[in-house]
Amino acid sequence: MPMDYDFLSLDYDITRKVNIDTVKSILSKADIVQNSNILDFGCGTGNYTCAIRELTKANVYGVEPSDGMRQKAIEKNKEIEFKKGDHSIIPFEDSFFDLIYMTDVIHHVPDIGLMFAEFYRTLKTGGLVCILTESHKQIENRFWSSYFPATVAVEKKRYPDISVIISTAEKHGFILDENINSDTEQHFNISEEFIGLVENKGYSMFRLIDKDDFSRGLKLLKKDYENNVIVSSNHGETFLWLKKV
Ligand SMILES: C[S@@+](CC[C@H](N)C(=O)[O-])C[C@H]1O[C@@H](n2cnc3c(N)ncnc32)[C@H](O)[C@@H]1O
Repeated sequence: MPMDYDFLSLDYDITRKVNIDTVKSILSKADIVQNSNILDFGCGTGNYTCAIRELTKANVYGVEPSDGMRQKAIEKNKEIEFKKGDHSIIPFEDSFFDLIYMTDVIHHVPDIGLMFAEFYRTLKTGGLVCILTESHKQIENRFWSSYFPATVAVEKKRYPDISVIISTAEKHGFILDENINSDTEQHFNISEEFIGLVENKGYSMFRLIDKDDFSRGLKLLKKDYENNVIVSSNHGETFLWLKKV
């Protein structure tokens, strides 16, 4: 079931912010200069588009299917061109981009083959794609998976696993440049911010599980938050770097 991002756009920025480590990871590998053309694919409300434009002063563009999300992005920075588009049509000429990146988007794309064909068409030869996603193992290792076990199956169904992403990209002319994961062992208290994110269903998976499973998980999570329980996790994300050859 596709998410209604026009509706979700109303509250999206309350719970979802730029992660500066993600920005640094994207910028540390890509060789960006001021006249580089960069695409934020599935840019949502433009959080990463604006941050990367601010830091690099390069030509950063956003493509986003939801009018609601795109409108929020336009309001944030009038100098950035935010266009309507999706995995089936990226409204730019051939061989235009030096870098296409996507953060938290691939699990919403119904046909990643079509998406890679569009990436191939619009990227320059030697251009890079950066996909920020999570492997199936990383989904299992999310600390909240133990509070909301039903999310694991839901998420594995939505997220293409890393080997599937790589083999689909290879079929469309890309080579794997690097597969980096940020898994780290962590021990921490549950934050008030995270409780708010869950209550607002700030991750779309919470809208896809049974109401009772959600309520049960939230109750346990709040109890551990109130008791200052230390939770442990070895969770991270995957940055997949692919090159057009
Ligand atoms: C979780 S949000 C991430 C937004 C933004 N990238 C960020 O990190 O804040 C997922 C975004 O993917 C967009 N999306 C959904 N289906 C898409 C598709 N087929 N092609 C491109 N973007 C899509 C949604 O409209 C939504 O804005």
